[in-house]
Amino acid sequence: MEELVALCKRRGFIFQSSEIYGGIQGVYDFGPLGVELKNNIKLSWWSSMVYENDNIEGLDASILSNPLVLRYSGHEDTFSDPMVDCKECKSRFRADSIENKCPKCGSMDLTEPRPFNLMFKTSVGPIEDENNFAYLRPETAQQIFTNYKNVVDSTSRSVPFGIAQIGKAFRNEITPRNFIFRVREFEQMELEYFVKPGEDEESLDSWVQKRLDWWEKQGVPTDQLELYEVPMDELAHYSKRTVDIMYKFPHGTEELEGIANRTDFDLGSHSKKQDELNIKASVKQNKDSNSKLGAQSDGGDWFVPFVIEPSAGVERGFLAILNEAYTEEEVEENKRRVVLKLKPHLSPIKAAVIPLKKNNKDIVDLSTKIKDGLQSLALGRVVLENTGNIGKGYRRHDEIGTPTCITIDFDSLENETVTVRDRDTMNQERIKIKELQNYFIKSIK
Ligand code: GAP
Repeated sequence: MEELVALCKRRGFIFQSSEIYGGIQGVYDFGPLGVELKNNIKLSWWSSMVYENDNIEGLDASILSNPLVLRYSGHEDTFSDPMVDCKECKSRFRADSIENKCPKCGSMDLTEPRPFNLMFKTSVGPIEDENNFAYLRPETAQQIFTNYKNVVDSTSRSVPFGIAQIGKAFRNEITPRNFIFRVREFEQMELEYFVKPGEDEESLDSWVQKRLDWWEKQGVPTDQLELYEVPMDELAHYSKRTVDIMYKFPHGTEELEGIANRTDFDLGSHSKKQDELNIKASVKQNKDSNSKLGAQSDGGDWFVPFVIEPSAGVERGFLAILNEAYTEEEVEENKRRVVLKLKPHLSPIKAAVIPLKKNNKDIVDLSTKIKDGLQSLALGRVVLENTGNIGKGYRRHDEIGTPTCITIDFDSLENETVTVRDRDTMNQERIKIKELQNYFIKSIK
């Protein structure tokens, strides 16, 4: 973990937020390379969900919502962790993370565990009082449920179909820890997949397999993952069954993603409250249209769909992917190199173009032209590494996971060839400039 944290800071993946003022606990900023890797992870998830399935739609809903959403979802009452205080040193801990003794001062004089609600509250509008507040969403899922009817009406979807969303979630964790593993502000990639009641159990099993396959493609092999059947007494208030995908993080084996059978809990409780509140009084309850929250079964009876939810944290995925990619190799006696063997579609920089001489105009001009040509393919970021030090350039790009380095030298001006170097094998070959774009496309796909 220490090596990953150091690499993230040194190379600009992740910084402590508000660092110049001493930081803020459990909050991180993603730097120039971090934002690229994070975007690539999200894009890969989005493609696998929304583009590669014919029955999944996307959504980007608000972080703030009417507080009733999180009241009727059950979060106001139940979204809490058990907390204990040390009476001696006044530290606070998650009760399930300690064993009868304060980890800070060793005292056994602790309070009884009591629930601590993890939702952040903020005031809305110019008057700060009890009635003008909103929660920052603790999961992205709720706005998928509240928009269910909007999506169905605007896309004519019927079950089985899904709604996917990526976005920020906030939890006032009692003890944020382990770098970006448990933080207070993070991103989730969530799919709510709506099925007929009775088809839910099979659907959950199939989503577990699909998610394992996806992690494998991101460089997190299945043999580094474990499936954890969440016991009944640990299930979230909405879940009938949850399977957690656990990863062997540097600090221990913990949850990377959860796949839950949320039954008809959320759509059911929102539509029940809608009826009770009569908010939708004006909506005509027409049996032939999807005019209420439920959909229509084959037989013509109304039912509330069941929901299978694969929910993955972007930060935890980032950490797992980085941990798997991080490699130290002995290249010569007493000489080691650090190389991030990221899958090329995730690499923050797809190729580095390195002029042999930083002051030679012809070489730099040709390098710039090559860089621009590769960049115009829009396959991700390509950089011109004009430091004049090829060895240093290779070391830097190994460490940040750039799949290909392209060196332009005097021969390039004469015979229109360049040297391409592969990150993993360190093999170098000479190829024609006119073949470079194809080589580049292949190296990324
Ligand atoms: N909508 C379902 C839900 O939110 P969850 O198991 O509480 O379920 C889903 O969260 C995922 O979000 C987790 O598997 C984890 O990857 C990520 N996650 C949850 N809390 C987190 C935190 N404090 N810091 C980073 N990631 C977190």
